[in-house]
Amino acid sequence: MEAAALSRIGLAGLAVMGQNLALNVAEKGFPISVYNRTTSKVDETLDRAQTEGQLPLTGHYNPRDFILSIQKPRSVIILVKAGAPVDQTIAALSAHMEPGDTIIDGGNEWYENTERRIIEAENKGLLYLGMGVSGGEEGARNGPSLMPGGSFQAYNNIKDIVEKVAAQVEDGPCVTYIGEGGSGNFVKMVHNGIEYGDMQLISEAYDVLKNVGGLSNVELGEIFDEWNKGELESFLVEITADIFKVKDEHGEGELVDKILDKTGMKGTGKWTVQQAAELSVAAPTIAASLDCRYLSGLKDERENAEKVLAEAGMKDQVMSVRSGVDKKRLIDDVRQALYASKICSYAQGMNLLRAKSVEKNWNLNFGELARIWKGGCIIRAVFLDRIKKAYQRNPNLASLVVDPEFAKEMVQRQGAWRRVVGLAVSAGISTPGMCASLAYFDTYRRGRLPANLVQAQRDLFGAHTYERVDREGAFHTEWTKLARKSG
Ligand code: 6PG
Repeated sequence: MEAAALSRIGLAGLAVMGQNLALNVAEKGFPISVYNRTTSKVDETLDRAQTEGQLPLTGHYNPRDFILSIQKPRSVIILVKAGAPVDQTIAALSAHMEPGDTIIDGGNEWYENTERRIIEAENKGLLYLGMGVSGGEEGARNGPSLMPGGSFQAYNNIKDIVEKVAAQVEDGPCVTYIGEGGSGNFVKMVHNGIEYGDMQLISEAYDVLKNVGGLSNVELGEIFDEWNKGELESFLVEITADIFKVKDEHGEGELVDKILDKTGMKGTGKWTVQQAAELSVAAPTIAASLDCRYLSGLKDERENAEKVLAEAGMKDQVMSVRSGVDKKRLIDDVRQALYASKICSYAQGMNLLRAKSVEKNWNLNFGELARIWKGGCIIRAVFLDRIKKAYQRNPNLASLVVDPEFAKEMVQRQGAWRRVVGLAVSAGISTPGMCASLAYFDTYRRGRLPANLVQAQRDLFGAHTYERVDREGAFHTEWTKLARKSG
C-alpha cells in the first residue's frame, strides 16, 4: 500500500487557538498533521477541515504516529497551557523526534522557561522556538501576529509557512524573526502589557464619557465608531464600539451594563510589570492597568467602602460636574486624552523591550516589532505605523515621547488631556491610566525634578551621599547639626 504523503508541519494541542491555527496553516496550502491527548478534539478538527474546504489536515491519535507523519526536518507547533503541560507535551513528542527537528511553543510562556527548554532541546539535537501568537481565536484562524524567537535555523525551516499564515499588512506579513532565546515570548508578554494599558485607558474614556458626560450606550457606540475612523483606529476601539450595541437578551438595555465589574487575568500583564521593576524601567500606565484589575477584583470590599465613605460624608460630585460640562467638547477632549495617554503607554512598553534587549543582547528591531503588530494582534492599530516610522527615523530613539512627531502631538493634546483628568478628579471618577500617563509625561519632560530633596533626605538619615549640579564628586552633609546651628 502506498505510504501516505507526509505533512509539511505538525501541531499538537487542539484547544481554541491550536485548532484554529492548524486550520489556517492547512488553508494556506501546507499539509498539516494534528494531535491532541483528548482524541475528540482531533475528530472535531478533522470535521472542520472537511466542512471548511477539504483542507489538507490529517489527524493522529498517538504521539508516535503524529511525529512520523511529518516530513523531515520536522517542525512541530505545540499550543498547550504554559508551564508543566508544555514540558509534558515536549517529553511525549520528542521521544519520537530526530536531531534537526524543531519544537515550536506557541503559548504565552514565561521567557525563561523557553530558555531552559532551548537547552534541553539542544541536548537532544532538537531546535526550539518560543513563538508568541496574538489575535485570539479569530486571529489564529484568519491571520495572527506571530513573534517567534530562538533558533534562527528553526525559523528558516518554517519561514514560508508563518509568512503565509500571519496577518498581512501593506508592508508585509505580521511575522518576523524576533531574536534569540526567549525573545519571542518576552515580546509577546510586553505586547500583552501594552494591551492591558490600552484596555484600561479605553475603559477610563468610557467611564468619563458615561459619568461626566452622561452619554448613553447608543451614543458611546457612535462615538467609538467615529474614533475608529481617525488616529485611534484600532481593533480595541472597533470592538468597544460593537460592545455598546449589544442588547441584553435577559432584560432591558445593553448587556455591557449587566456585566460584573471584576476583571480576570491570565498573568502576562503581571509579568510585564515585574520585569519593568527588575529592569528599573518606569511603566506607570501598564502598572495602573494591573492595579485596576486587582482593585476591580475587590468587589465586596469596594461595595462596603462605598457605604462606609458615604456614611462618613462622601458626596457624589458627578452630577454637579456634569451640569457644567460642554458634552461635545468633552467628547473631543477625551479622544485627545486617550491618544496622548496611549503614546505614553507604548513608550513605556518599547522602553521595557529596549532595556531587556540590551540586557540579553537580543538586538531587537523596534520598527519591525511595531510593523508586525500592525495587523493580527490585539493591539493592532493605525497608530503602530507611526511608531514603526518613529523607530525608522531613529532606531536609537530614547523614548517615543521625544520623537519629533509624537512630541508635537502630545503638546497639542495636553490641554485637552489636563482638562479631562481635572474634570475626572473633580467628579471623583478615577482615571489611573490617564493620570499615570500624564504624570509620566510631566515627569519625563522636565529637566529638574524634586529628586534633589529625596537625595538630601537619604543623605541625612542614611549618609547615602549626593551629587551636586555644579561640581563633580559625591558629598555628605551633617544636615541635622548644621540645621540646629543655623536654627
Ligand atoms: C492575544 C491575547 C491573549 C491573552 C488574552 C487574555 O494577544 O491574543 O493577549 O494572548 O491571553 O488576551 O489575557 P488576560 O487574561 O491576561 O487579559
